[in-house]
Amino acid sequence: VEHQGRDTLFTGKKVLVSAGPTQEKVDPVRFFTNKSSGKMGFAIAEAAANMGAEVTLVAGVVNLETSNKNINRIDVTTAAEMFEIMHQHFQANDIVIKAAAVADYRPKQIYGDKMKKQPNDWQIEMERTKDILQSLGDVKQDQFLVGFAAETSNALQNGISKLHKKYLDAIVINNVSVDGAGFGGDTNIVTYVNKLEQPEEISLTSKHEVANQLMAFIARDIKGEVK
Ligand code: CTP
Ligand code: CA
Repeated sequence: VEHQGRDTLFTGKKVLVSAGPTQEKVDPVRFFTNKSSGKMGFAIAEAAANMGAEVTLVAGVVNLETSNKNINRIDVTTAAEMFEIMHQHFQANDIVIKAAAVADYRPKQIYGDKMKKQPNDWQIEMERTKDILQSLGDVKQDQFLVGFAAETSNALQNGISKLHKKYLDAIVINNVSVDGAGFGGDTNIVTYVNKLEQPEEISLTSKHEVANQLMAFIARDIKGEVK
C-alpha cells in the first residue's frame, strides 16, 4: 500500500482555479451579478496550495483574502476579462477548476453616464457572454478540466449533461436550493461525477473540507487515468 500524505499530493503540479461572481455593468453606478461569494473556489485554491500545488487563482468580485504564498491571485471583473485571463494561463496548467459563477448575459450597451430615472419603464437589452469553460474544453490537451454546475432542480441529470457538453473530466454538482449548500455560506453539499459517471456525494461539511475531498478525488482520478 502506498502512503502519500495530503500535503504532497500535488507537488510539482500547476493548478488554475477560478472563483466568485463576475460583474457586468450597465452604467457607472449599476451592474448585474449573481449570488456567488467565491468561498468555494477560494477554499479549493487553498486546499490545492496546501497539498503542494502552485496555484493561480482568478477571482471575480469577492470580499475574500488570500495569504498562501503558493497562490498567485489575479482579480477580474467581467466575464470577458475572466475569459482572457483563463485562456492566457490554460496551457501552462495541469489541472483547471472552474468554480466561478460567470454571468451568462451582459448589458448590450454600457452607458458612460449614469442613467437618470424616467417616468416610463427601462428595458435593458442583454447579450450572451462566451462560455469560458466550454471554450477551454474545446482547446483542452492534457489538462484535467473540472467544472461546476449550479442547479436548483434535476441537479444530477443537468450536471452530467454539462460534463459531456463541455468536454470535462469531472463536474462538481451543487444543488444550490438545498439548506447548507451553495452560495454565500461556509458549508456545502456537492456531488462529484467523473467520466465513470458514478456520482460521489460529499455530504454537508465546511467548504474547506469539501475542497480537500474534491482535491483528493481529482488526485485519485489523475493517478487512475480516469480522464
Ligand atoms: N461557465 C463559464 N462561462 C460562462 C458560464 C458558465 O465558464 N459564461 C462555467 C461555470 O464556471 C461553471 C460551469 O460553466 O463551471 C457551469 O455553469 P452553470 O451556470 O451551472 O451552467 P451553464 O452552462 O451556464 O448553464 P445554465 O446556467 O443555463 O444552467
Ligand atoms: Ca450559467
